[in-house]
Amino acid sequence: MTCFSSADESAHYGFSVCMLLEQYRDGLRWEDDGVVELGTGDATAIADVVTALPELRVHSYDISAPSVVQARKNIAARGVDDRYTVELGDFFDQADAVGGPPVGTVISNPPYIPAPDRDILMPELWGGVNGNDLVLQLLKSGYDNVITAVASYSDPEATVRTAEHHGYRVANFLAVGLDFGPYSSEPKVREHIRRLCADGHGWADDDGYMVAVALFTRTDAVPGNRADQLLRALQLSV
Ligand SMILES: C[S@@+](CC[C@H](N)C(=O)[O-])C[C@H]1O[C@@H](n2cnc3c(N)ncnc32)[C@H](O)[C@@H]1O
Repeated sequence: MTCFSSADESAHYGFSVCMLLEQYRDGLRWEDDGVVELGTGDATAIADVVTALPELRVHSYDISAPSVVQARKNIAARGVDDRYTVELGDFFDQADAVGGPPVGTVISNPPYIPAPDRDILMPELWGGVNGNDLVLQLLKSGYDNVITAVASYSDPEATVRTAEHHGYRVANFLAVGLDFGPYSSEPKVREHIRRLCADGHGWADDDGYMVAVALFTRTDAVPGNRADQLLRALQLSV
């Protein structure tokens, strides 16, 4: 088992989280109680965000032991281990263990690889049959603000409609086009993505797909709703 590695995707995640936290600082009030993260990976993306935002504290969880070891090294090397802490374990077990969400904002570049089963290159990246199982679980976990990556091939319309059902609006998002990487290029995964898209559950072309990092919020102080713009940016027709 190795660490998740996808430089472009992690960079987009880190940059987008930084921009959304900064732009919506007053409404999200993350300086008061920090944020939690599902899926640390090697921690480099968010360690840079913690460096850039001196008031930010992040408590992160990852189920991959090698990732946690590498993450702790990278965080210490950047000198932010007092404000970016990492625990080995399932995010949802930990959140339940402390009696529900203690903070208002969760950030994540969650596992979103769709496949018929977990037997894929890195099983920790399996997002269920449609790829959006973990995003949906996050949206049902009681956080007022969910900053999460949403992939165009992982049934984004179902994700947005579920979010709306739970009272969220899409305040804003940053979208980027990505080439298929090692995890989504695995033949079993590529064929599954092709079928999902043909069945109307997402979008991808021959070379790649879109990913947006979106702020889903039910905080009154964070206005607006760009849900349809998000889906259009992910190439869905709405
Ligand atoms: C797509 S990677 C993102 C890593 C990092 N945030 C980045 O963008 O570079 C997703 C990470 O989530 C972790 N993960 C998967 N399921 C998890 C769970 N239930 N709780 C905590 N971490 C989980 C995986 O081990 C993996 O490191």
